[in-house]
Amino acid sequence: MNSDVLVRVSGLHKSFGDSEVLKGIDFEVNRGEVVAIIGPSGSGKTTMLRCVNLLERPTAGRIEVDSRVLCEELPDGSMSFSKKAEIRAIREHVGMVFQRFNLFPHFTALENVIEAPMAVKGLSRSDAEARAHELLESVGLGHKADSYPLQLSGGQQQRVAIARALAMDPALMLFDEVTSSVDPELAGEILQVMKRLAQEGMTMLVVTHEMGFAAEVADRVLFIDHGLIVEEGSAKQVLANPKNARTRAFLRAVLERAPMAEEGDPAPEPAGSSAPGLSQIVEGSDDVEQ
Ligand SMILES: Nc1ncnc2c1ncn2[C@@H]1O[C@H](COP(=O)(O)OP(=O)(O)OP(=O)(O)O)[C@@H](O)[C@H]1O
Ligand SMILES: [Mg+2]
Repeated sequence: MNSDVLVRVSGLHKSFGDSEVLKGIDFEVNRGEVVAIIGPSGSGKTTMLRCVNLLERPTAGRIEVDSRVLCEELPDGSMSFSKKAEIRAIREHVGMVFQRFNLFPHFTALENVIEAPMAVKGLSRSDAEARAHELLESVGLGHKADSYPLQLSGGQQQRVAIARALAMDPALMLFDEVTSSVDPELAGEILQVMKRLAQEGMTMLVVTHEMGFAAEVADRVLFIDHGLIVEEGSAKQVLANPKNARTRAFLRAVLERAPMAEEGDPAPEPAGSSAPGLSQIVEGSDDVEQ
């Protein structure tokens, strides 16, 4: 395997009961690359992200992370999964931050950040704390080390969650709509942290509705719809000049903040041109700077 490729997903299928949510997903993420995943609600973005560290067990397909095979199909069509210890070892190198805050409520910010390095990596408390202070500082929360999650804003909690994931020195970070549960004015400070991580060379898979962020920070954008990657390309191409009618309709709806058609509805007719304002997003997307 080409060592530049950190994540390789092929033929990924996932069903919940009779409902097939992922219908054959193929993509790769190179080391140091930031890949944004966009698409309508219910299209399978979260499921796809959760499959990457086997929080969901794929029904078919192959997933490789950092040269380790997490799952693959055997010649008889059955699925083979890595052993628990191997999966745990891979997860240690994959940080995940979710849409909803998932801090331990009875731990302070500092205690949240030191927990896994001490429990999983065996770091001493003083080493773990020294590193946690650095990380909290780096997300702008050095002064909040002793606060409990309930004493922090949603944006601050998400930044603690990012610091906590980084404390494990991950090779890959997965972000799932990390700004969607916070007030819009707090989203900027989270995006700022993510942007800096990207600049420092972190490999990132980012499910986002923040098109300005995707335009500015992502190397590539995947548009997923009804469990398939419908369009893939550079952020500029996909966001400013989408080829697929469904991508255009989605981007137009996001820009107008209009509700999207539910999954299962017929795709809306394309207008024939890219949605108004997309080129502005790609060109003028420094809103995360503030
Ligand atoms: N554990 C589950 N059991 C049954 N169905 C599920 C489960 N998790 C997800 N689904 C279904 O799979 C589909 C895709 O869900 P998913 O959460 O991946 O979508 P999404 O693209 O992340 O949407 P959103 O933008 O709203 O977060 C949905 O129809 C959802 O109801
Ligand atoms: Mg989701």
